[in-house]
Amino acid sequence: MKKYESLHVEGKRERLEYDLLDNKKDLRPGSLKRDRMTRCGMLVLLLSCASSLLIGTAIGVHIVYTKSLGYLKARPVSSSGQLFDTKFLVVGDFGMGGTLQSSGDFGTAKEIQERIAKEMAYVGVVLQPDFVVSTGDNIYGGMKDKADPAYNETFLSVYQGYPSLSQVNWYSVLGEQDYGSRNDKADGMAESSPLYQMTALNEENLAKNWVCCGGRRESFSVKQHKSLDLYFLDTSPFIHKYLNKPWASYPGGILSEQSKLQAQLDMLESHLEQSTAPWKVVVGHHPILSNGVNGNTAELQQLRSIFKRHKVNLYLNGHDLVLQDIEEDKKSGLHYVTSGSGALPQDLQTGLCCNKAKFFEAVPGFVTVSVAQHEVRVQFWGEKAKLLHEYELKRS
Ligand SMILES: *[C@@H]1O[C@H](CO)[C@@H](O)[C@H](O)[C@H]1NC(C)=O
Repeated sequence: MKKYESLHVEGKRERLEYDLLDNKKDLRPGSLKRDRMTRCGMLVLLLSCASSLLIGTAIGVHIVYTKSLGYLKARPVSSSGQLFDTKFLVVGDFGMGGTLQSSGDFGTAKEIQERIAKEMAYVGVVLQPDFVVSTGDNIYGGMKDKADPAYNETFLSVYQGYPSLSQVNWYSVLGEQDYGSRNDKADGMAESSPLYQMTALNEENLAKNWVCCGGRRESFSVKQHKSLDLYFLDTSPFIHKYLNKPWASYPGGILSEQSKLQAQLDMLESHLEQSTAPWKVVVGHHPILSNGVNGNTAELQQLRSIFKRHKVNLYLNGHDLVLQDIEEDKKSGLHYVTSGSGALPQDLQTGLCCNKAKFFEAVPGFVTVSVAQHEVRVQFWGEKAKLLHEYELKRS
């Protein structure tokens, strides 16, 4: 028996079949709770489909059929039945563009990025995200001028065709790639500048929903949304080994940010102090703790005590091209979440030294975070609707 569930995704014209019987096999036998959750998820999907059909008819959205009920696990309802008031996707290190090739059988960076964008869009239809967070390395090599086509190649043309991604803001931080870390002036390469990615400084070329770059003084460092306060750090200027690189002195580059490190930390602390939101999440490009190739970042260890003092719940980062979850300790409930495989993943079977990771996979994917007054749900998504890992944090 074939049964079609529809998810609307604009722009990409495809029709994939979904076989209900096949998917039933995924349900653990005797797991009534799981079954109920799925039914509840289906209801959410049907409702959201009904509304998107209406909107779809009005604006001519194409209907796409999906293969899998897996996306329903993104339903915006917690296991205890609370409706999440703030939901977002977290993706990182997607801006590789062109031809970087995976040593695994994932394909080129660009192919992977496009597949993950589609997965994000499907999950987005169910989750109905309020925004997307980019953990940086949006454009490898950075932008060389205001109208650099690289922005189209790594962002516009990949994500903006999907309504669930293009109708919400993308809150982005910069990675060292956005500062131009691949460009070596000594080799005659053009200078790039992170300033071209900044919404306010390049309105004519950047998308309206591109909100960049968190933690920079020209930009923003806090976003508040119902039960959530979200803080952004620009971590590249903290990293000592970048300081003597040719690209450190590019316009608006890390050398010019050096004198503002303490200001970034002070700003974070003073915002955290004033925050009354039940949940606090900090975003930066570089990991504080990581078992990926890059490992822990020594210069960012000072953040751990700030986070613990102010009861930060999650730190979201990229840089290591993996999906990863590390818990600081049970008492603090603080988690370090890496979402850095929006394109090519690292070539690792397992994590390296030395943190006790609760979850680690070097596969293409992204993360979703859903927030309610008393609960936060974190989900790690791979390809083909695969929910690789999830957990809920609770507070009374
Ligand atoms: C972006 O690239 C696509 C092809 O990938 C092209 O069709 C489109 O015109 C480009 N848009 C801009 C604004 O350059």
